[in-house]
Amino acid sequence: MKIGVLTGGGDCPGLNAAIRAVVRSAESGGWSVTGFLNGWAGLLGEGIARPLTSGDVSGILPLGGTILGTSRTNPLRQQAHVDQVITNFERHGIDALVAIGGDDTLSVASRLHDLGLKTVGVPKTMDNDLAETDACIGFNSAVTIVVDALDKLHTTASSHHRVMVVEVMGRDAGWVATIGGLAGGADYILIPEVDVPVETVCDSLRRRRQRGKDFSVVVVSEGAKFPDVPVEPSDSTTDAFGHVRLDRRNVGEVLAREIEKRTGFETRTTVLGHLQRGGSPTVFDRVLATRTGVASVGYIAEGRFGHLGALRGNDIVPVPLKAVVARNRTVDLDLWRLASTFY
Ligand code: F6P
Repeated sequence: MKIGVLTGGGDCPGLNAAIRAVVRSAESGGWSVTGFLNGWAGLLGEGIARPLTSGDVSGILPLGGTILGTSRTNPLRQQAHVDQVITNFERHGIDALVAIGGDDTLSVASRLHDLGLKTVGVPKTMDNDLAETDACIGFNSAVTIVVDALDKLHTTASSHHRVMVVEVMGRDAGWVATIGGLAGGADYILIPEVDVPVETVCDSLRRRRQRGKDFSVVVVSEGAKFPDVPVEPSDSTTDAFGHVRLDRRNVGEVLAREIEKRTGFETRTTVLGHLQRGGSPTVFDRVLATRTGVASVGYIAEGRFGHLGALRGNDIVPVPLKAVVARNRTVDLDLWRLASTFY
């Protein structure tokens, strides 16, 4: 038996831990592993692949990024590309494929499963917006970086008596902003799921000043919207999965200028950007990647294709890829509201 593995979509800490888990558990079952490079791009043309042995994955558990490379390639856009993927399964002698990724990568794995290929998934996205799982690889590492940044930004905001607006990633889900902001003591959190007027934010910051707090830290998700201030993307081109670049909206800077204009409080912006996807995975992500990676090989052994290992409570359970990609998991609004206790 030969297992293929690829990583697709945005990188994040924990991908290598998952690759290692797949290779080590496959080898212990007597199977060999082939890694496809750069996401689904590695299955186009004649395929770009390399064998992966336990020697190749030795020492990569704490390493950020992905040794396989990644891309946002969508083979479903052209029938010729779908045909190439199917042909490459045969050409490379692949019995089953592990796709490590978020909703885009897994939607391809799900569709290929419908077409008769043996695919399984591993949940990865720092956005944490995959349905059916309590957590995704990369999220805990990303919010840990956000919290570290908020701790640092608090001291400079406080020293200069400024408002600090911190823009974080997350696409259309506010998980990174909400959990990062809660843990980092944010004085306001703005997320894509709830449109808050900028004037409401300003009122809250004014009340804080009246209470004697002469600085504030505001966390804004890259996809946040305001009913009273338009935020337009400066670039509306989309990637292969139809997503616009949300960093081009500059929502943090738009918000900071508006806050300064309306309140007169000196305001600065920090965009955390791709720092949130760098560095070594946290303990939580290492363990999640290891468990879900091993589970994916277990599902192949059981013949349970078209599934992914999801975290439910403390357990890893198989859920159909179809259900995972059917919708996005948005923020638990009770958590977001809880943060307002501290505004
Ligand atoms: O999906 C993960 C993510 O980091 C989003 O939070 C963000 O909008 C996007 O990827 C950025 O992608 P890129 O790597 O293309 O800049």
